[in-house]
Amino acid sequence: MSFSTSPSIPVVTIDGPAASGKGTLAAGLAAALGFHLLDSGLFYRMVGWKALDSGVPLSDEVALIRLAIDLRPRFDGEAVWLDGRELSLALRQQEIGTAASEVAALQGVRTALLHAQRMARRVPGLVADGRDMGTVVFPDAVCKIFITAGIEERAQRRHKQLIEKGLPSNISTLLQEIGERDVRDAGRDVAPLKAAPGALEIDTTKLDASMVLAQALAYCRSRLKSTDC
Ligand code: DC
Repeated sequence: MSFSTSPSIPVVTIDGPAASGKGTLAAGLAAALGFHLLDSGLFYRMVGWKALDSGVPLSDEVALIRLAIDLRPRFDGEAVWLDGRELSLALRQQEIGTAASEVAALQGVRTALLHAQRMARRVPGLVADGRDMGTVVFPDAVCKIFITAGIEERAQRRHKQLIEKGLPSNISTLLQEIGERDVRDAGRDVAPLKAAPGALEIDTTKLDASMVLAQALAYCRSRLKSTDC
């Protein structure tokens, strides 16, 4: 079975734990390289949101797989629409992140979402961020990056993001939830969070976003050049 819709189109993957700066790095790289952007966490957040919104228990695997199969999102710039509702902000809530992490541990949900993620691979290229981009979804990516940061730093960053978006946030609750999410995302049987073999690993704890972008961009440019993409 082929693992990609268009193997010749270059993909940059960014994997890492919650609030490690994947989204910021992915957006910066996509803008610098002129590539499309895939925030794969959004798919799991949408399934989590639909489950909570429609009262489907997070333990009902069959119903959750159905929700994932029937997901028909519409992306319009930064806006995400689902079932006629604009959900960009709602999907960012901390409780939706936790629900996403729970549904993401189910193999059937992951399988149902795989095709839609691979369909994001379009010319001239794609930057994809998540937990299994380099290991499962795009194993043939030309450039793989794994970013980490200390949990205290990640909780502070997420707190700032949530407050800036006008969403509720509490730093000690965040610390606990991010810690639990780390354990669940890295400890699950299917597609656990881990660095892809050969990935460039960047610890961003003491780096600001522009330093991380500069390092990642230099790496991607040299990989794209050396593989003639
Ligand atoms: O990146 P994020 O915080 O939006 O992701 C929310 C959850 O979705 C995360 O805790 C685990 C899950 N996820 C996943 O399992 N695989 C991905 N490729 C992306 C996200």
